[in-house]
Amino acid sequence: MLVTSAIKLFACAIALSSLASAVPVENRDDDSPTYLDPSAEVEDRVEDLLGRMTLEEKMYQLMQGDIQKMLGDDMQLNSTLLKPWGATFAANIDREPLARLINETQSWMINDNRLGIPTIMQSEGIHGWLDVNATMFPSAIGMACTFNPDLVREMADVVGTEANSIGVHNIFAPVLDLAREPRFGRIEEGYGEDTYLTGEMGKAYVEGVQGKARPGSPKTAKHRVAAMVKHFAGFGSSLGGLNLAPVVGGERDMRTIYLPSFKRTIMDGGALSIMNAYHAYDGVPSAIDRHVLTEILREEWGFEGFVESDSGAIANLCDLHFVCDSSFLDPQAAIKALTAGTDMEMGGRPMHYQNIVEQVEKGNLDLSIVNEAVRRTLRVKFLLGLFEVPYGIADYNSTIHTEEHVKIELQMEEEAIVLLENDGILPLNEKKLDSIAVIGPQAGVMQYGDYVPHGMFERGVTPLQGITELVGDEVDVRYAEGCKLWSLDESGFKTAVKAAKRSDVAVVMVGTWSRDQVELWQNVNATTGEHIDQNDLALVGAQLNLVKAVQATGTPTVVVYVTGKPIAEPWIKYNVNAIINAFYPGENGGTALANILFGKVNPSGKLSVSFPTYVGSLPAYYNFPKSGRPISPGMIHANGTLQFGQQYVLGTPEPLWYFGHGLSYTTFEYKSVKLSKTEITQDEKDDIIVTVTVKNSGDYDGKEVVQVYVDDVIASVVVPNKALKGFAKVDIAAGETATVDIPIRLEELEVWDINNKFTLEKGDFVFYVGGSYAEPSFNTTLTVV
Ligand SMILES: *[C@@H]1O[C@H](CO)[C@@H](O)[C@H](O)[C@H]1NC(C)=O
Ligand SMILES: *[C@@H]1O[C@H](CO)[C@@H](O)[C@H](O)[C@H]1NC(C)=O
Ligand SMILES: *[C@@H]1O[C@H](CO)[C@@H](O)[C@H](O)[C@H]1NC(C)=O
Ligand SMILES: *[C@@H]1O[C@H](CO)[C@@H](O)[C@H](O)[C@H]1NC(C)=O
Ligand SMILES: *[C@@H]1O[C@H](CO)[C@@H](O)[C@H](O)[C@H]1NC(C)=O
Ligand SMILES: *[C@@H]1O[C@H](CO)[C@@H](O)[C@H](O)[C@H]1NC(C)=O
Ligand SMILES: *[C@@H]1O[C@H](CO)[C@@H](O)[C@H](O)[C@H]1NC(C)=O
Repeated sequence: MLVTSAIKLFACAIALSSLASAVPVENRDDDSPTYLDPSAEVEDRVEDLLGRMTLEEKMYQLMQGDIQKMLGDDMQLNSTLLKPWGATFAANIDREPLARLINETQSWMINDNRLGIPTIMQSEGIHGWLDVNATMFPSAIGMACTFNPDLVREMADVVGTEANSIGVHNIFAPVLDLAREPRFGRIEEGYGEDTYLTGEMGKAYVEGVQGKARPGSPKTAKHRVAAMVKHFAGFGSSLGGLNLAPVVGGERDMRTIYLPSFKRTIMDGGALSIMNAYHAYDGVPSAIDRHVLTEILREEWGFEGFVESDSGAIANLCDLHFVCDSSFLDPQAAIKALTAGTDMEMGGRPMHYQNIVEQVEKGNLDLSIVNEAVRRTLRVKFLLGLFEVPYGIADYNSTIHTEEHVKIELQMEEEAIVLLENDGILPLNEKKLDSIAVIGPQAGVMQYGDYVPHGMFERGVTPLQGITELVGDEVDVRYAEGCKLWSLDESGFKTAVKAAKRSDVAVVMVGTWSRDQVELWQNVNATTGEHIDQNDLALVGAQLNLVKAVQATGTPTVVVYVTGKPIAEPWIKYNVNAIINAFYPGENGGTALANILFGKVNPSGKLSVSFPTYVGSLPAYYNFPKSGRPISPGMIHANGTLQFGQQYVLGTPEPLWYFGHGLSYTTFEYKSVKLSKTEITQDEKDDIIVTVTVKNSGDYDGKEVVQVYVDDVIASVVVPNKALKGFAKVDIAAGETATVDIPIRLEELEVWDINNKFTLEKGDFVFYVGGSYAEPSFNTTLTVV
């Protein structure tokens, strides 16, 4: 796929080359300004251009425009609204007009402005570029269940290829917010609860989406698209799970829980841009957090790209966080944010960076701070080759939703599905079944999760379609919706129960729901998504009763969760024959689910987030800190008897399933585990290699996720009971044995110590290795002397 699309790109680059090298008005007399010289070094081009810019031109480089807001009713650009924005949001318009408008906007930037600086066209693409006919992948929380960074890299390459073909250069992804507070509505956008897994997935996404430079770019250009890693940093664990609420934590949590995934993604993945977050951490709003945005990101890590505020995050400083005056465009907002290291302001609310010129002239804002922010923005433009290749390609259609892209999509769907419970009923066999009841409000619909374009929910393979297609004429499929997602009405149960009674097996599909990018903001009902938070994690409406009614028929019952977050329903865990979890799938979700149900594909997904038993037992994440975890559970028995305990009085802090859990149709036997070294000194540099031998001892070919959790036995501060530090996904045929090497970077074993610095402390580190966190097969010890 890479080869063919590269050839097509090249052909089109030639067609556009005369356009791309159009010489801007101002420079027609200057034979060869350095910034327009493709053979000059990036830093020389940046300084040359910066030196030519007026303060007003600099200000516009630090602000984002939006094509939608520059349109008249006739869908034509209104030139009085065009400004030489540093970046331009280009989304939520159909593909045809969008391609034209992107081209026209860019052409205006280059040909109708003094210095001809191209704008960075920005769009969304967490799990597919924001185009209704682009390839749409499962939600990120599902992608993470694949434990397959190579697949995430391929997926992100598809997103980058498709978006870039119409001239988009910057994608607002990956999302690295941790799902440690599952009441928060946006946890479906990230890679689950774990710092390490999130970092590996984020890095793979960046490598895939950024890709290589476009044909026609100078040698100094590195990439075609910039990833915008978000939300920097510590978002997603808000008080009460409420959107925009503060996050409580200190330097140690920031350094050890939140920042490592960002460092891995940004520095090792080479990300070019970053988005800040809406929240305040330890009382400091993210947009003005100089410690994180400058001291850590720039001075410690050496990041050289730009940071953009999330939409409206600068205005929020004044009317949400109240660190400035909300009654007028208080210049303090722009001064504080720019000084802290928020280089560019995204639109969406009144733009505070329009104060820049005046504040510099009044002496309230240091010009050097503005220059540095502009430098970072321009640097990314040169690294993207935008001055040489500013436009998309003519034949963009042929690179979007190709057969190859859809194939990657289906594989990701299949690897994202997690088999939670199975008493042996699965896989189903269509040759032995006469009938199957397909029941539930999720069976006949698509659920995509956040960040899909308007109209997306009308496209895709539903579970019902997937099952019907797979079984063909052999099996009678009896469909009943049973109930609506959003209602307590049980009048549909009768038909569902009848269908179940008359069938050999019943598959009941229940879960949460979300909306597309337009509906999301129209105040319609949904249970997950941006600004849609929950106070409970149980099934909404009549759904649990529907499962109970079907199970009561005595027909073997399989429950499928189609969801954007963990579902806390202990009754279902203990009373049905099998449970499958499908975090919001992509366009071929129904096909993938059918393939799993009928054993055409062996499930290999592992949970990226723990499923709490009840909302009241949060937090449920597996890597809870040592101490504070005595467990003497109580319970309410089915017969109504109350059995009293202490933690909790009538419950348990243990989740239904921990992070890392997932079953297969085959069995994996761990044969041996060996470390490359069992004793090292504190200044050791090489990775520790964990060599694991696993046998597929069952009847199905299958993929196993070999997981390595580490317990830092005695540390100078309290550390997690265990934490994931390495994993590998291995494909093993039935009866075969595989040996896999898993590198553990020593940086991963460092602790933010009692003296507030990262240290590889002396002592024992016990490595637990196996197919899950809860039930490791082996342990072995590394000693640091
Ligand atoms: C363009 O925008 C300006 C400023 O908002 C407005 O006055 C004008 O009517 C618009 N022109 C068209 C053709 O929509
Ligand atoms: C998406 O593709 C379908 C089928 O090819 C087509 O009918 C529809 O117009 C397309 N939608 C957009 C917005 O391009
Ligand atoms: C893009 O715009 C330029 C200048 O307006 C035009 O010459 C060119 O044909 C357009 N290209 C595409 C692919 O639409
Ligand atoms: C892209 O495809 C759409 C329909 O799917 C078509 O209307 C349009 O003309 C195509 N664009 C180009 C540039 O081929
Ligand atoms: C929820 O949304 C659906 C679909 O948009 C609508 O038909 C239904 O009436 C809504 N129900 C409630 C209770 O808001
Ligand atoms: C209720 O069930 C529990 C657990 O099975 C049992 O210990 C208890 O004796 C039962 N109580 C009654 C009143 O049947
Ligand atoms: C570690 O492995 C040994 C066997 O090698 C076993 O006896 C011990 O129980 C294991 N420890 C833990 C905490 O699992």
